[in-house]
Amino acid sequence: MNTKTTVISQEALDRQFSYCDKIAAYFQAAGYTPKAYVETYGCQQNEADSERIRGMLAQCGYSMCDGPEGADVVVMNTCAIRENANQRVFGNLGALTHTKRRHPAQKIFLCGCMAGQEVVSTRIKNSFHHVDGVFSTHHFWQFPEILYKVLTTGKRQFYIADEAGSIAEGLPVLRSNDLKAWVSIMYGCNNFCTYCIVPYVRGRERSRRPEDILAECRQLAAAGIKEITLLGQNVNSYGKDLDCGVDFADLLAQIAQIEGDFLIRFMTSHPRDASTKLFDTMAKYDKIAKQLHLPFQSGSSRVLKAMNRHYDRETYLEKVRYAKAVMPGLVLTSDVIVGFPGETAEEFEETITLIEQVRYDALFTFIFSPRPGTPAAKMEDPTPKEEKSRRFDRLCAVQNHISEQIHAGYAGHTFRCLVDGTDKDLLTARTEGGRLVRFAGDKALIGTYQNITITGHNTWSLTGERKG
Ligand code: SAH
Ligand code: SF4
Ligand code: F3S
Repeated sequence: MNTKTTVISQEALDRQFSYCDKIAAYFQAAGYTPKAYVETYGCQQNEADSERIRGMLAQCGYSMCDGPEGADVVVMNTCAIRENANQRVFGNLGALTHTKRRHPAQKIFLCGCMAGQEVVSTRIKNSFHHVDGVFSTHHFWQFPEILYKVLTTGKRQFYIADEAGSIAEGLPVLRSNDLKAWVSIMYGCNNFCTYCIVPYVRGRERSRRPEDILAECRQLAAAGIKEITLLGQNVNSYGKDLDCGVDFADLLAQIAQIEGDFLIRFMTSHPRDASTKLFDTMAKYDKIAKQLHLPFQSGSSRVLKAMNRHYDRETYLEKVRYAKAVMPGLVLTSDVIVGFPGETAEEFEETITLIEQVRYDALFTFIFSPRPGTPAAKMEDPTPKEEKSRRFDRLCAVQNHISEQIHAGYAGHTFRCLVDGTDKDLLTARTEGGRLVRFAGDKALIGTYQNITITGHNTWSLTGERKG
């Protein structure tokens, strides 16, 4: 495998744009506006990538539609994090044989993290003949070229070379939300947690230059965006590969000084590299939301070592104590894996006690899923499925109780919230900590900040009333 990451040159990007022009000219001459549908699975990183894929499609003359029926191009941007994610995609991909039969000109592409798994591309090559192209995350900037080749030659295209990864600046982007924007600050991951597929499918850690990120954030702020979420698999190691003296805390501080009424969020913060400097920076700037997603994965130091997480229970708890001390009211969320190979009943209890000690506002809970090619997939795993499910249910019950109690404590308090949409007859809004609040109000309030007094709650969300 090539281990050096590359920055895509302007010439190479211009070649892609010329493919866009050719495709657009072809459809224009035919007097036809083609339609495209992009379906996204997985995390925010993929959402952000899909916005760029849509941007490229728009530049090729496509208008977006909201389903595969009748679409001239369908792109499935996939996730490989757990086995059920893969299965869902294969199921949905199978169903596209029907949409293609009804619209034979339909071209179908599979990209994203699953496309980086050799088992997947081989299976598509051999058994999913209705799929016209497969490209991994390293190749997504070449989508115009892939599309052009499929349209002009009718031949299937596979752009799946195993690479360390690349950075392509200046790709067009079609954002799906005009209040909230994703900004990838880095790509890939070097951590190789033993259960995780991401480093294999997204390549080595590589940071965008601070000036490119700042320019994008300035543009967003000037366009009136209300929330910017900085994305990376491990944002705390931002800049280490650049040698430019800017670490993640510095980057946050610089973005926080951009003019405009917006909040900054970020994910994901790896506990190993989460520093007191980061927490102090968060505390210092009003623009940085007092919200932290700090995945702990397990409460047992032995399991954490087997996961290759490079921190133990005590150092994790110490970081949480510090973060809460400098940011009273901090909203804290996390990821946890139940049933890692060899996790004993006692070690699972340590996960429960950690949750009870930290008292997270919300948790994303997962049962371990073996990923082919990762070290954990080869580890001895004697715990029966039923026992893992029992542990999972117990953990969810403990967390739900805590979330409920924390939400109950919101009663009567007033929060400045961004009104971001509707849910049936009500409006939805987010507190600075990212908690969902529903309240009655006029749709014209969408896109504004409102003071909302909390009047009710359940485990997952709050209800409130707008303060006049
Ligand atoms: N980079 C982030 C995680 C991205 S993946 C971080 O390090 O925190 C999101 C979450 O999926 C992980 O935090 C983990 O809890 C879960 N996950 C990853 N691989 C998994 C697997 N093989 N089985 C079950 N859960 C997994
Ligand atoms: Fe996966 Fe670990 Fe990297 Fe997160 S830090 S993406 S869990 S390898
Ligand atoms: Fe899935 Fe890839 Fe994200 S595996 S979780 S879409 S980085």
